[in-house]
Amino acid sequence: MALSHELMEQLKAAGQNELAQYLQIAQESTAKKLAEQLKQIDFEELAALTSESETSESTRDYTKLVPPQAVRLKDQDPAKMAEARQVGDKLLTEGKVAALLVAGGQGSRLGFDHPKGMFPIGPVSSKTLFQIHFEKIVARGRRYGKPIPLYLMTSPATHEETIEFLEKHDRFGMAKEDLHIFCQGTMPAIDLQTKQLLLAEKDSLALSPDGHGGMLAALVKSGCLEDMTKRGIEEIYYFQVDNPLADVCEPELLGLHHLAESEMSTQVVAKKLPEEKLGILAQLDGKLQLVEYSELPAEQAAETIEDGTLKHWAGNIAVHGVKKSFLDRMATLAGSLPWHKAIKKVPFVNPAGDVVEPLEPNAIKFERFIFDLLPQAKNPLAVEVDPALRFAPVKNADGAQSDTPQACKEALCEVARRWLKECGVSCATDRQVEISPLAALDAGQLKQRLAEKPALAQADLIDD
Ligand code: UTP
Repeated sequence: MALSHELMEQLKAAGQNELAQYLQIAQESTAKKLAEQLKQIDFEELAALTSESETSESTRDYTKLVPPQAVRLKDQDPAKMAEARQVGDKLLTEGKVAALLVAGGQGSRLGFDHPKGMFPIGPVSSKTLFQIHFEKIVARGRRYGKPIPLYLMTSPATHEETIEFLEKHDRFGMAKEDLHIFCQGTMPAIDLQTKQLLLAEKDSLALSPDGHGGMLAALVKSGCLEDMTKRGIEEIYYFQVDNPLADVCEPELLGLHHLAESEMSTQVVAKKLPEEKLGILAQLDGKLQLVEYSELPAEQAAETIEDGTLKHWAGNIAVHGVKKSFLDRMATLAGSLPWHKAIKKVPFVNPAGDVVEPLEPNAIKFERFIFDLLPQAKNPLAVEVDPALRFAPVKNADGAQSDTPQACKEALCEVARRWLKECGVSCATDRQVEISPLAALDAGQLKQRLAEKPALAQADLIDD
């Protein structure tokens, strides 16, 4: 079947000859469906990407990395923190804060057959990741008397099921007008050797979500950035679906970020071991940037300072305060986020129509990352938090060494036990305890609730 001449020329100019030939002999319905997908592709960009070498991060001089300026836990000034909290409280009371949750990933390491947000993680309640996050946002809005809008990013792989799930549960108490679900874009995978586009099915390209950094383009395309303008949003709390310890829209972070006039702030935790799988924040050539753990040479990763701690300590936990005006500025700059290449196993259909399940990585996927905005932000800020209270991502299936559901459930219990201890309620260290975000968002609020109604300690506040 003859495809549009223009599309054929574009394919050939981008060096995609295999697909061009395939389309010439394909059935009309097949070619039509593929043509629809091909129309979404920026062929100039694809040609540029396929002509580059496999890794694009290799030009940094890692010996020149300097640890970032950061608000460290050990140096925290109580007066400064109280001031930050007040500023954060004010932003929330005035309705100037939005939450931005990215949940478009494929969650392949976890091996869960649904959007990751639907994974049950409450150690006692079995609440899903979505429910915990939603309840935190609803509770925070109630506390300040102003609902907090949530902009939730999905991908074609998670979009429909996420909407269906959230509607079935009445958005866990969030008003319809406060929830904006928008879908990120996709990028095609290419063969590692030949750089030709891969087919997932006879009539469909192998496409995957374009990374959490795809959120910038998707916010614009969906009209969500415009919606934030209409609502008078000034600050955005960005977080990821797999970390139920994220203290969504916490006023201290928002306040520190705002007081520093930072365009983008990042929560970090102190890495103890060089092999911990966390990217680090560091200064290079006067710019704050993120260096992925897989990219940092072992020698630099293991470097220590006089007190024996790691020089490159600032592990990124992907919680950011972001100025809305910064996203507006970045959205107008083409290429403000570079493409990263990941070499992965991608099943594909060969020209004979057979499905091939590769045993070794066979393809390149392209993704954009949110943290690449950091070097472009004015006054970027790193804020250290205690990982025991803020970070327990669900990445791998139980049985893996780290970041498993089991470890995350234990971390959720530990947070609850610590809060109870602060409230003077004794709790055995092995007791499974969970505190609903709707009951309390922190130890201070829990104390207040318990003082109002002590019987709650055994009732609806705490599930065990
Ligand atoms: P990860 O990098 O852990 O990827 O995403 P993942 O897709 O969830 O899991 P794996 O690597 O396939 O096992 C970190 C966060 O970024 C979101 C994820 O949903 C998660 O909240 N993300 C990732 C997106 O929203 N879109 C993407 O394209 C990639």
